[in-house]
Amino acid sequence: MSRPITIFDTTLRDGEQSPGCSMNLAEKLEMAQALADLRVDVIEAGFPIASPGDFESVKSIAETVKGVQVCGLARCNDKDIDRAGEAVRGAEHPRIHVFLATSAIHREFKLRMDKAEIVRRAVEGVKRARNLCDNIEFSPEDAARTELDFLCEVVEAAINAGATTVNIPDTVGYATPTHMFNHIKTLVDRVPNIDKAVISMHCHDDLGMAVANSLAGIEAGAGQIECTINGIGERAGNCSLEEIVMALRTRNDYYQADTRIDTTRLVPTSRLLSSITGMEVQRNKAIVGRNAFAHESGIHQDGMLKEPTTYEIMRPEDVGFTKTDLVLGKHSGRAALSDRLKALGYPVEGDKLDIVFEAFKRLADKKKEVYDSDLIALVDKRPPSE
Ligand code: KIV
Ligand code: ZN
Repeated sequence: MSRPITIFDTTLRDGEQSPGCSMNLAEKLEMAQALADLRVDVIEAGFPIASPGDFESVKSIAETVKGVQVCGLARCNDKDIDRAGEAVRGAEHPRIHVFLATSAIHREFKLRMDKAEIVRRAVEGVKRARNLCDNIEFSPEDAARTELDFLCEVVEAAINAGATTVNIPDTVGYATPTHMFNHIKTLVDRVPNIDKAVISMHCHDDLGMAVANSLAGIEAGAGQIECTINGIGERAGNCSLEEIVMALRTRNDYYQADTRIDTTRLVPTSRLLSSITGMEVQRNKAIVGRNAFAHESGIHQDGMLKEPTTYEIMRPEDVGFTKTDLVLGKHSGRAALSDRLKALGYPVEGDKLDIVFEAFKRLADKKKEVYDSDLIALVDKRPPSE
């Protein structure tokens, strides 16, 4: 039996905060519909107080995209909360996300508030939001660097004030999996009303551990993951949606937790975001990169032709690629060459294959990749006696 995990997509809010990733209204609407088609549970559509354009985008998404919760972000003050409430009001399932920093560094240098003031403001903010909407998320910003006793106190107070989700951000990507597991486990064990809210993970990728930290949170009892398409987001980005979703699907034996995501839409959604923002994913990006299901070495290609599970833990079709890519290059072997020639209509075997294989290797030494047109030219150049 799999425990359901809520996917909270923040591509249009935290993701849009990546330098170079801002989107206009039409682009945001197109992306929001793609996220709904991907079957995310919650779309964080923007930060309505940030600009009139952001307000309009959140409002339009709330009014037009159906079958999904639509959320607006607010700092913990009346103006922000009311603006977010107004923006999401037209949604089928609205949510307001209120945040306030809790770590010592943020309390002292950014907010200049003591602990009591933080708790008082968090409670007031959640109560105000709760008067506008009954689906309220509260985030103690920089939770990963917040003293655990104080974090427990704030989380308990926020739930008592009406928060239905408590999100535990690793705002600066400082945590490790053990650190995050311990944070969440402490909340589960020590906060008396914790079962009245869903615990959520929001991990940044500054040390490259956002996905691992989110998984550690799930192990400790979290029920929601905040993530973005292609992992875009502030600085090094957020937990990548495609990676966390496929980790849970592929290692369901271990986590016994899963999402509602239609994984066959992962690649098309990733490509759509890249085409809108102009930010390509790297070739070796897990799940959606061009090399994610490509094999060049002869040993791997031979294994793949015999049985795909030898070198693939997921099926390319399951994430939206059409097929495995056996790339022909200097590391490739006879099996892959013969297979490709057959597919191209040249069933070359035995001695003839040896001759073509030799010519292929000579060519491959000079090129990064040997294309079908190169192969056809090679075969067609054979002397008539062949
Ligand atoms: O990283 C962060 O702390 C945030 C909050 C607004 C949740 O993005
Ligand atoms: Zn963030």
